[in-house]
Amino acid sequence: MGQDHILSVTDLRIQYGRVQVLHGVSFDVPAGALLAIVGPNGAGKSSTLSAIAGGVAGAGDVRFDGRSILGLKPEAIARSGLSFVPEGRHVFGSLSVEENLRIGTFMRGDRQRLEQDLQLVLTYFPKLKERIRQAGGKLSGGEQQMLVIGRALMTRPKLMLIDEPSLGLAPRIVEEVYAILQRLRSQEGVSILVNEQSSRRVMSFADEIIVLRDGRVQLKGQPSDLAKSHALHDAYFGTGTFDRDSGEAIP
Ligand SMILES: Nc1ncnc2c1ncn2[C@@H]1O[C@H](COP(=O)(O)OP(=O)(O)O)[C@@H](O)[C@H]1O
Ligand SMILES: [Mg+2]
Repeated sequence: MGQDHILSVTDLRIQYGRVQVLHGVSFDVPAGALLAIVGPNGAGKSSTLSAIAGGVAGAGDVRFDGRSILGLKPEAIARSGLSFVPEGRHVFGSLSVEENLRIGTFMRGDRQRLEQDLQLVLTYFPKLKERIRQAGGKLSGGEQQMLVIGRALMTRPKLMLIDEPSLGLAPRIVEEVYAILQRLRSQEGVSILVNEQSSRRVMSFADEIIVLRDGRVQLKGQPSDLAKSHALHDAYFGTGTFDRDSGEAIP
């Protein structure tokens, strides 16, 4: 609780129509940390991030930077310093890399700071700098991922939510993207919450891992602790206290 957590999610519940997909999820993101929510397809990872960012309705409580934000409009949440990078790399294909980076900053009045921020983003993403005049649609998958993260950074967020940044990228590029995220966290103090299907990809980068399955938090912990036990595997696949096929708890 308190100010050392940039984000506190308490008993978050989401339903689509009559189907409840999130059954009371709680976790905290310490300020300046990089956390990863991992879990199989359909676990509720994307729904969780969308609800935090105001994209889907949810019940419970979400506190960001000391303020309850659940129910606020996505634009209002974004303006308060929470930037959401949804799954799927939404790059404007015919706009240049620079135009893609500038497009989210129309509401900013501080032109001079904006130029500094653009330069800062380009120092973190040298590949974008090399391709600054190229059309976004011509970039590789990894470069497009960097572009949408860079664009999110242009709003000067305190917290970034990134949905499956590694999807479809080669392992080497995944490493590169996460190395940059880690530097943003330690050098710029940006807190980061990512979703990933595979825990393997984030084990060496995340400060803490939250395993989500069937709309519930199954396990939380530091990667170094989780790696030592079978707990991560069990939580992810639902073995042990959960039936492997149905996902139902075994009493
Ligand atoms: N807009 C939607 N309407 C109805 N059901 C949805 C919608 N979005 C996701 N779902 C369902 O909610 C569950 C969780 O989905 P999602 O949050 O996308 O999980 P994940 O990101 O972990 O794969 C899945 O069963 C999915 O089919
Ligand atoms: Mg998803």
